[in-house]
Amino acid sequence: MDYVNPLRDVEDRRLPRIAGPCGMVLFGVTGDLSRKKVMPAIYDLANRGLLPPGFSLVGYARRDWADQDFAQIVHDSVKQYARTEFREEVWKQLAEGLRFVQGDFDDDGAFETLRRTIEELDQARGTGGNYAFYLAIPPGFFGSVVGQLQEHGLAQSPEDAWRRVVVEKPFGHDLESARELNDTLNGVFPSGSVFRIDHYLGKETVQNILAMRFANNMFEPIWNANYVDHVQITMAEDVGIGGRAGYYDGIGAARDVIQNHLMQLMALVAMEEPTSFEAESLRIEKQKVLASATLPRRLDVSTARGQYVEGWAGGDKVQGFLEEEGIKKSSTTETFAAITVNVETRRWAGVPFYLRTGKRLGRRVTEVAIVFKRAPHLPFTETATEELTQNALVIRVQPDEGMTLRFGSKVPGTAMEIRDVNMDFAYGGSFTEASPEAYERLILDVLLGDPPLFPRHEEVELSWKILDPVLAHWARKGKPDTYAAGTWGPPSAEAMLARDGRTWRRP
Ligand code: BG6
Repeated sequence: MDYVNPLRDVEDRRLPRIAGPCGMVLFGVTGDLSRKKVMPAIYDLANRGLLPPGFSLVGYARRDWADQDFAQIVHDSVKQYARTEFREEVWKQLAEGLRFVQGDFDDDGAFETLRRTIEELDQARGTGGNYAFYLAIPPGFFGSVVGQLQEHGLAQSPEDAWRRVVVEKPFGHDLESARELNDTLNGVFPSGSVFRIDHYLGKETVQNILAMRFANNMFEPIWNANYVDHVQITMAEDVGIGGRAGYYDGIGAARDVIQNHLMQLMALVAMEEPTSFEAESLRIEKQKVLASATLPRRLDVSTARGQYVEGWAGGDKVQGFLEEEGIKKSSTTETFAAITVNVETRRWAGVPFYLRTGKRLGRRVTEVAIVFKRAPHLPFTETATEELTQNALVIRVQPDEGMTLRFGSKVPGTAMEIRDVNMDFAYGGSFTEASPEAYERLILDVLLGDPPLFPRHEEVELSWKILDPVLAHWARKGKPDTYAAGTWGPPSAEAMLARDGRTWRRP
C-alpha cells in the first residue's frame, strides 16, 4: 500500500498560495468598506503576484457610471489606501479586467447584464466561470441580491467552476435575525460556499495566537485556571463614529465589535488544541468555548456601557456622540461596552474573561492580556514586593504588533526590591516581512476556497446567544452612562472590575 503522509495537506499549504483563474463581483462599490479595504487589498494581492493575470473585478451599484468611472474610483482608492507601492504595470493589467454594471439590487435587467458581463470576461480574460460575489452592502439587501443571483443562474457553480458569496457583519442584530439571515443565504448558496468575514481573523497577530499556543511548550502548561487569574480583551479606538451614523446608531459597540471580533478572540484564547488547522476542526473547538460561555447572574454589575460626551482626542476638542451628524438626540446607542464572560470548562472555571470596546477612548489599541495569579508564597519582606503586580502575557494585536511578558525582577542595588519588568517581542524587530492587511489574506482565501479563517454560522449564533441577554438588560435600563471623549469609559466600567478586586489595564 502506498504511504500516505498525514501531513500532506499541511505541506501543500506551504506552496505559494496563488489564486487560479477567477473574478469577483463587488456589490456596494461606493461604500467605505469597498474603497478603503476591498479594492486596495485586491491591488495589493495583484502587486504581490497572488492573483491570476486575467483576474477581473465587476462593480455593481446604482450610480450611472461607465466602466471608466468605476476604474477611476478603484484607481483613487488604490492610490490612497493600498499597502504596497503603486506600480503602473500592475495597475494596467488589473484595470483591463474592470467592468461596471449599473442597477438596483432587485433589477432583473441589470442582473441579466451582469450575467452577460461574466460570460464576456470568461471569454476575454479566461476567468473560467469562477466568481466570488462580495456583498459589501447592508444586510437588508442580501435577500434581494442572492435571490437575483439565483434567478439569473449566477449562484449555481457551473461544471468545473465555483461560485462563492462573501458577506460582512453585522450577521443580524440578535440571534433570531442572524438565523433568518443565514436561512436567506443558505437558501441559495450551500454553506461551504458562504464566506463570512470577521476581519480580525485575517490579522497576523490574531492568527499568531494559535501559533503561540500550539507551536510552543512553555505557555500551554500554565494556560488554565490553576495559573491564570483573569483575561482582559480590549479593542479601543480613539476615533468617533466618523461618517457612519447611519450604520452605528441603533447598533452600538457590543453588536459592532463584541459579538464578532472579541468573541472570536476569546474563543481562540480559550479553545482546546484542534486536531488540525482545517476549518472544521477549528470550528469545533471555537464552538465548544462559545457554547460553554455564560454570563454572571447580575448583569447590572458585571457589564458596563457608556456614550461619549464632549472631550479631547489627540489635543483636539471633539463633540459628543449625540452631537455627531446623523445621530438622534435621544439615541441610547452605546459607544462603549464591557461584559464579563465565564467559560464553564475545567480549564477555565473561575477565570473571568473581561471584554471591552469603545470609540473615543484614550488611544487606539487592541490587546489580549492573560493576567496570572500571584505566586502562592512570597519569601520577601512586604516592602520588597510593594511594586510587584501580577505576571501577565499581553498579546498586542495592534498597533505595535507583538507580545509582552511582564514579570518581577530585582532592582539593581544593595537591597532586595522587586519591580515589574517587560520582556518584549515586536514584529518589526523579529521579521523583515511586513504583515499583509487582514483583507488581503481573507480575499485570497476566498479565491482559493480556503475556509479556516471564516466563522461558521454556528459560531455566529452562539455569540448572539451570549450577548442577547446583555442587550435585553441594557434595553430595559434605557440610557447608557456617559464618559468624556479621550478617557477610558464610564466609571461603571471601573466599578465592574473593582467589585472583583481587579483593575483594567491602561494600555
Ligand atoms: C469594524 C467595526 O468591524 O472594525 C468598526 O465595525 C471599527 O466600528 C473597525 O472601527 C476597527 O477595525 P480595525 O481593524 O481598525 O481594528
